[in-house]
Amino acid sequence: MKGPNSTWPRAQRVMLIAAGLTCATVSPVLAQKATRERPPGVTDSAIAVGRALFHGTANCAGCHGVEGQGSEAAPALTDAVWLHGDGSYEMISKLVLHGVTRYESTEGKPMPMRGWAPISDDQVRAVAAYVWSIGPKGRGTALENRRKN
Ligand code: HEC
Repeated sequence: MKGPNSTWPRAQRVMLIAAGLTCATVSPVLAQKATRERPPGVTDSAIAVGRALFHGTANCAGCHGVEGQGSEAAPALTDAVWLHGDGSYEMISKLVLHGVTRYESTEGKPMPMRGWAPISDDQVRAVAAYVWSIGPKGRGTALENRRKN
């Protein structure tokens, strides 16, 4: 006989899977918020201004992809691998200011200073604040991940 009970195990399995997925997606975000302290200068407004520049005037997204996800032209800025330093706000600011020469480049692809955009020093720092904000947690170990040529 098929009573209402026979449908329970399936419903419970579905709920367990749903609960598991929720934990798996939510916990890394919480961990990231808890462990990364913002350096001075990385304010909400700097991040917002930087984000607009990144996708607009500075056109970083043209090479680094929308939200810094990466493209053929340039590496992702969201993963844990930093090719040119420790991923600190200072490092990112300096890199954007000076760019990456062909000699320094890890893949023979240079990055023009300031992304070749007409942006001020303050705008460079804002865009760096945005890049810092989309980056991974666990800064300071990236040099160990540095790719070999
Ligand atoms: C013309 C394409 C281009 C533009 C525009 C550009 N970049 Fe880059 N960027 C690159 C390339 C290529 C690299 C990596 C060079 C290499 O090592 O091969 C890079 C590297 C970087 C890095 C270092 C990544 C790491 O892993 O260490 C940061 C940070 C960065 N860019 C931020 C920016 C920001 C912010 C902007 C906008 C102001 C910008 N870039 C505009 C091409 C570009």
